[in-house]
Amino acid sequence: MADVETVASGTRLVFAPDAVLRFARGRMLIHTASAGQSPFVTDQPMLIGWLAQFAQPSDAETALARLPAESRALAARALAYLRQSGALREAGIDADVDDADLHARSREQLTALTQGVYELGCDVAGFGPHAEQALRLRGGIGLESRLQALRAAVADLRGELAMARGPYLESQLQALGVDAHSRELNLHIGCGPYLLPGWVNIDIHPAPLATNVLWGLPFAADSARHVFLSHLLEHLFYPNDVHPFLVDVRRVLAPGGIVRIVVPDIAQCIDAYQRDDAEFFAARREHWGTGDGQTTRLEDFLAYAGAGPDPAWLFQAHKFGYDFATLQRALQRAGFVDIERSSFNGSRHPALQVDANSEVAGADHGGQHYSLFVEARKPGGAA
Ligand SMILES: C[S@@+](CC[C@H](N)C(=O)[O-])C[C@H]1O[C@@H](n2cnc3c(N)ncnc32)[C@H](O)[C@@H]1O
Repeated sequence: MADVETVASGTRLVFAPDAVLRFARGRMLIHTASAGQSPFVTDQPMLIGWLAQFAQPSDAETALARLPAESRALAARALAYLRQSGALREAGIDADVDDADLHARSREQLTALTQGVYELGCDVAGFGPHAEQALRLRGGIGLESRLQALRAAVADLRGELAMARGPYLESQLQALGVDAHSRELNLHIGCGPYLLPGWVNIDIHPAPLATNVLWGLPFAADSARHVFLSHLLEHLFYPNDVHPFLVDVRRVLAPGGIVRIVVPDIAQCIDAYQRDDAEFFAARREHWGTGDGQTTRLEDFLAYAGAGPDPAWLFQAHKFGYDFATLQRALQRAGFVDIERSSFNGSRHPALQVDANSEVAGADHGGQHYSLFVEARKPGGAA
């Protein structure tokens, strides 16, 4: 074991996210879900209460100084063991950490977690009410309390990230010269790599303004003149996410402001399917490089229309498809007026003749674009 000096180095320590604390017959056991080492066990009430402070990052030296002198050696040995086993880790910013690498590994964890939660739901559905009993018999704790613990861990993490949103967005907006007094903005939402000069180009990281638009648009009410969404809407859940998002788009638009929306034209796909138009689908697959060459028209069409996306694909997956009537209804429900069908680059508003900026919006088959082009106006202002 490390000696007192090794531990009391001014390092801030915190419990690892997978540290598990158990209490049994007056003893406390601490271990991690991932480490193979035997748990740390203590029956010293002094240590039990004292260690709890490492739920938040604490400086080891200061923490030790809080103890009576005769208890410090024991506490330092406990800290050394817990560090070695991985139950206590160093908190704070490590200059050597490669953020991109860490981010890639976190994405892998999230993919596994998203799939795992879905599969857990399926397992529980298979057991029905027997899951509660079966788990209680095995470990003394039933399903409900374990699910509550998982939910609390997720809520905790989301809460911490929610607190980081404000400063994260604020610094980006400052760099873009946008503040609460900005007006007449042009917002390009879901820009991907296709940036429009003079517009605020918004997408998830990396983007000039990196955000999840479902957090709410970080602009004042009535601050935008135009909003352009090219192939974004089909990536959001309809109507649960689409409705509040479109309401938010209306909020940030000034009265009379225009939203231009480009989405896959699902009616066109249905027509091609009914006509048995193999060429339409072959050209589409060639354009997007999707399928394995054997994909049926129905597979192609349903994936395009958003059927059965893998939850772990997050924003990459199509989650819904639109024809004009459906998009019109969604816009009406969000409070837009003058909803009209447009054509490729055919906006009546010169500032919105920007479709050619997007490769997907520009894709066509025999001169007919695969996309549906729609514009709508926020009530008020000049029509
Ligand atoms: C198919 S791409 C379209 C890119 C570009 N607008 C174009 O027309 O080619 C969809 C884009 O929407 C972005 N997106 C999807 N959901 C989003 C969300 N909730 N917040 C921010 N961006 C999102 C994706 O990251 C992706 O870049």
